[in-house]
Amino acid sequence: MAKYKIAWLPGDGVGNDVMEAAKIVLDALKLDAEYQHGDIGWEFWKSEGNPLPDRTIKLLKNTDACLFGAITSLPKEEAQKELAPELQDKGLTYSSPIVRLRQEFNLHTNLRPCKAYSGNPLNFRDDIDLVVFRENTEDMYVGVEFHPLPQDVMDVVCANSAKMKRFADTPLDEIAVSLRINTIKASRSIVTQAFEYAKKHGYKTVTIVEKPNVLRETSGLVVREARKVAANYPGIDLWETNIDAMCMWLIKNPQNYGVLVATNMFGDIISDLCAQLIGGLGFASSGNIGDNYAVFEPTHGSAPKYAGQYKVNPMAMLLTTKLMLDWLGELQLGEKLDKAISSVINDAKVKTYDMGGNSSTLDVAEEVVRKL
Ligand code: IPM
Ligand code: MG
Repeated sequence: MAKYKIAWLPGDGVGNDVMEAAKIVLDALKLDAEYQHGDIGWEFWKSEGNPLPDRTIKLLKNTDACLFGAITSLPKEEAQKELAPELQDKGLTYSSPIVRLRQEFNLHTNLRPCKAYSGNPLNFRDDIDLVVFRENTEDMYVGVEFHPLPQDVMDVVCANSAKMKRFADTPLDEIAVSLRINTIKASRSIVTQAFEYAKKHGYKTVTIVEKPNVLRETSGLVVREARKVAANYPGIDLWETNIDAMCMWLIKNPQNYGVLVATNMFGDIISDLCAQLIGGLGFASSGNIGDNYAVFEPTHGSAPKYAGQYKVNPMAMLLTTKLMLDWLGELQLGEKLDKAISSVINDAKVKTYDMGGNSSTLDVAEEVVRKL
C-alpha cells in the first residue's frame, strides 16, 4: 500500500493541463502515493446541480491531502442559465466549491507564499519575499447574504443600529446585505500561524492588513487579537496597516515586507497583488490548511480560453505541489523540487508564453524533471 492517498481534483479549464504537469513531476520524485480522481467543478453544476458532489467530499475524507487544479465561478444569474433544463426549476443555487471545501473541512489557514525567483523576467523587483496568511473560513465569505432582505432581519437591524434609519424606507427587494463575520478564535489562530511561520523562517515583521478605522467592530476585533498574539513574540514586530494603503505600499516598497496576515476578503485581494509582484498568477501557489487535512491549489483560476491547449504556466501548480510535499513532511522532496523550479526559471530557456517563450505546460514540467 502506498504511504499517502492523495485526492486528485483537476476541476475546470486549465486545471487539467497544470495537474498533468504536477503528475509528471510527482512521478519523477517518486512520491510514494496513490492518486484518487474526484469530480468537482462547472461540469457537475451543469449536469447535477452540484459542483461539489457528496461522493467527492467522501473521497476527500478518505485521503491524506488533496491536490486541486482550478475552478470556474460565475455570478448568480449566469450560473443559473447554464444549469441543465430539467434542473432549472429546482431552486438550486451555485456556490463556489472551493469556498465550500474550505468551510466544510475547516481549512482555516490559506498560505500563499510570493517569492521572486531570480531570473524571472516578470518580477516586479528581484528582492521580494512575501508570505500571505489569509484567514480562510469567515469574514465576507461566510455566505450569509440576503436579497431581498427579509422583513424580520430589517426590523432587527433597524432596532439595533441608528445608522439603519437611512435605509428604513428602502423597499426590501431594493437592498442587499452580506454579513461580515469574524471571531476571536479564527483571528487569533491565523495571526498565531503567521507569527509561528515568521519565527521559524526568520522574518522580522508580521504585517496585519485590515481597516479598523472604518470597520470598527470586525477589523477592530481582529487587530486587537493580533496585538495580544504579537506580545508573545518579542523578536518580531507587528506592523498595522490598512488594506488601501497597503496596496500602495506593496507597489512602492514590497521589499520592506515579509509575512502578511489578513482576514478572508482582504487576504484575497492582497494575495493577487502579491502574486503580480513576483510574475503573476503563473507563479502563485497556495495551500488551504486545516488541523488534519489540507487542499493545495494554485491561486490562478481556470482560464477557460486556454483549456486543453497546454499553454499556461505550470509553475504555480508545481510550487503548490512543493507546498503539499512540505505539509506531508516530505521536506527533502519539497526542497529538491524548489531547487529544480528555481533553476528552470533562472536558465530562462524553457518558458511559457507569459514569460515570453513558447514552451508548453508539459515542456516546463519535463524540464523541471531534468533538473531534479
Ligand atoms: C482565490 C479565489 C477564490 C476566492 C474564488 C475562486 C472563489 O479568488 O482562491 O483567491 O475568492 O477565494
Ligand atoms: Mg482570489
